[in-house]
Amino acid sequence: MASWKERMAGDLREVVFTEEEILAKVGEIGREIARDYGDKRVLMVGILNGCFPFMADLVRSVHTHIEVDFMSVSSYGGGTQSSGVVRILKDLNKTIEGHHVLLVEDIIDTGLTARYLLDNLLTRHPASLEVCSLLDKREARAEEVSIRYVGFECPNEFVVGYGLDYEGLYRNLPYIGVLNQEVYSRS
Ligand code: IMP
Repeated sequence: MASWKERMAGDLREVVFTEEEILAKVGEIGREIARDYGDKRVLMVGILNGCFPFMADLVRSVHTHIEVDFMSVSSYGGGTQSSGVVRILKDLNKTIEGHHVLLVEDIIDTGLTARYLLDNLLTRHPASLEVCSLLDKREARAEEVSIRYVGFECPNEFVVGYGLDYEGLYRNLPYIGVLNQEVYSRS
């Protein structure tokens, strides 16, 4: 019988970013963040659910004092198309007034979610507000978003793994890939 790993790999048409590439890139971003913020304490705000593996690896590669908080938003009702509707399901635990805030996203696709979050957080008067996204799907952009830290430019395809899901699955893959067409017709 095929192992879990083999079955998951069989659901992918191709691997776009390997585990090694991702971890090397996350290390680079972490070093950049530590260098840029220096003595300023940064509050890293992860956007759940997709950010969790990236956030976990990233915070451990930022070798300076940081704080961490999370927000949970829903922007997709399932499937692969952005609905454009953003709802805050879990807000920050603390106020951010006067704090240096770095929003951490798994992927910026249409930019609708990030734009909504940035506008929302700006009303809370942070000292600074920047965006870090592992993937940038630039071709799909509908809303302009300036991303201070980008891991990789992502092809304009629906990708899964390393936090990114399709209907709740594949988040636990250690790499990122494009799903086979056949997986969509199965669900
Ligand atoms: P945006 O609002 O279109 O920029 O997309 C924001 C959210 O949609 C991301 O944080 C992801 O959760 C999800 N998303 C966008 N593109 C993909 C993809 O290719 N694979 C999996 N999730 C995606």
